[in-house]
Amino acid sequence: MAPDVRERIDRVVLEQRQQDRLRAHGFEPMRRLLLTGPPGTGKTMPARALAGELRLLLFTVRLDGLITKLMGETAAKLRLIFDSVAETRGVYLFDEVDALAGERALGDDVGEIRRVLNSFLQFLEQHESQSLLIAASNHPQLLDRALFRRFDLVVEYPLPTPDVVRTVISNRLASMVPPRWPWKTIEQAANGLSQAEITVACEFAAKAPGHQRAPHTTPPPACSSSRPDAAISTAVY
Ligand SMILES: Nc1ncnc2c1ncn2[C@@H]1O[C@H](COP(=O)(O)OP(=O)(O)OP(=O)(O)O)[C@@H](O)[C@H]1O
Ligand SMILES: [Mg+2]
Repeated sequence: MAPDVRERIDRVVLEQRQQDRLRAHGFEPMRRLLLTGPPGTGKTMPARALAGELRLLLFTVRLDGLITKLMGETAAKLRLIFDSVAETRGVYLFDEVDALAGERALGDDVGEIRRVLNSFLQFLEQHESQSLLIAASNHPQLLDRALFRRFDLVVEYPLPTPDVVRTVISNRLASMVPPRWPWKTIEQAANGLSQAEITVACEFAAKAPGHQRAPHTTPPPACSSSRPDAAISTAVY
């Protein structure tokens, strides 16, 4: 996790832990977060980490799966979820919130999705319980401006910089990283890949010939070397 992201997540944990004291002084803890960024950049991980650090259950709600064509049904489901938010303290992750973005909705769905978006905004605004709400989106450009304003904190997850590439690889491969590695070549090859894709490439390389190749896996020619650095620098997913 990038240091500035870590810092902001730590701040959320601190405010959540001290919420009674903050409220006693008339302040509200951050309790509505929006995480944006391309797929596989690590948006879901902090939701898990926050739930773990706060010792709370993590509930994941996929908004795209919640939307039905039946008028009013989606809003009713959303109400049930927000009832639970108020009753059961937890970390609630609303994944794919861009499913509610107006521009994405075409044809007959427009009216219904707009109504759902309005309900979601209202619920967000009214949320005063001790639960922590986290929304995640791969397409922030599709999100309604009104949605951004409802959050206490917006955190962007960009594709990894070369430094982050190196950290992700070092963390995943740990002691398998040889002392002399062509880091520059590897960083160039990883350019444009997400943290998740780099992690998969590392795992693929680490399990390559000489280690344990899975019986039904035929690695692409570029990955046939037993050297993890060669596999990572050529594996493009
Ligand atoms: N900063 C990171 N360091 C190490 N590994 C990471 C990092 N970010 C992501 N990963 C790896 O990528 C996997 C997927 O990350 P995650 O599910 O959090 O991404 P996401 O942004 O939520 O993706 P999506 O938008 O597709 O839901 C993780 O399980 C982890 O293996
Ligand atoms: Mg995710």
